[in-house]
Amino acid sequence: MLKGSFEYIKEKIGDLTPDTAVILGSGLGGLVDSLTDAIIIPYKDIPDFPQTTVAGHSGCFYVGRIGTHILICMQGRFHFYEDIAPQLVSQIIFLFKQLGVRQIFITNAAGSLRKSMPEGSIMLIKDHINLSGRTPLIGRHAEPYFPDMSEAYSPKLAKKFKQIAKENKIKIYEGVYVMLLGPNYETPSEVKLLCHSGIMDAVGMSTAPEVIASVHQGIEVLAVSVISNLANGLSKHKPDHKDVLRVVGKSAKTLGMLLRQLLEKE
Ligand code: HPA
Repeated sequence: MLKGSFEYIKEKIGDLTPDTAVILGSGLGGLVDSLTDAIIIPYKDIPDFPQTTVAGHSGCFYVGRIGTHILICMQGRFHFYEDIAPQLVSQIIFLFKQLGVRQIFITNAAGSLRKSMPEGSIMLIKDHINLSGRTPLIGRHAEPYFPDMSEAYSPKLAKKFKQIAKENKIKIYEGVYVMLLGPNYETPSEVKLLCHSGIMDAVGMSTAPEVIASVHQGIEVLAVSVISNLANGLSKHKPDHKDVLRVVGKSAKTLGMLLRQLLEKE
């Protein structure tokens, strides 16, 4: 458990009680610039807390305000492909829950499985398919032992997000996110298989674990992908992490603005 981490963070943030957690995906770390009076807590200073190993994931918590909300933002997430214990994801979400979090916004960079959803698009995730072969709930865990996933993504938060996008005249897509373990990008044949199912819209290497753990903890979920590339075989460009960070960086401002307005209006 992350008992030492919880106590350290609690001491750092004093009487601030975060109600919203935000997990920032590759290239989306800049969203923390919207926070007022941010307290920065590097992972390396936190007892019992692991380090991120991926470029574009710096490894800090930011605690600060937007509107009436107090946020805890995770700039740097942990991926199953880093060979972390799957339970670590559940422990981090439990840490949020203990701090007072009741809703979570999860972002990621993803490859598009639809030629009609180009790079730079913002896709609201309406459901996921976890093909990573792992779950953060593996092993002993608290009740509910078999959490229901029939409405994993909060329809209420999704509706608000869509409304705000509409008010700002920003086109957003909606779709199903499929998680593969990674860290390699998919082969063109794997992409063909995913596309062939007809039910998947974007592919990535994260998010499903955090969503599963949040649903288990009764935390409401909003999740959004920024499309960084067309998945392998759908375009002549090959996916590359540097390009992913560059493309996502461009849409990050728009996504940040939408999330900020969502919080300001709530
Ligand atoms: N595949 C998997 N994960 C990704 C991709 C992709 O094409 N782009 C960004 N993350």
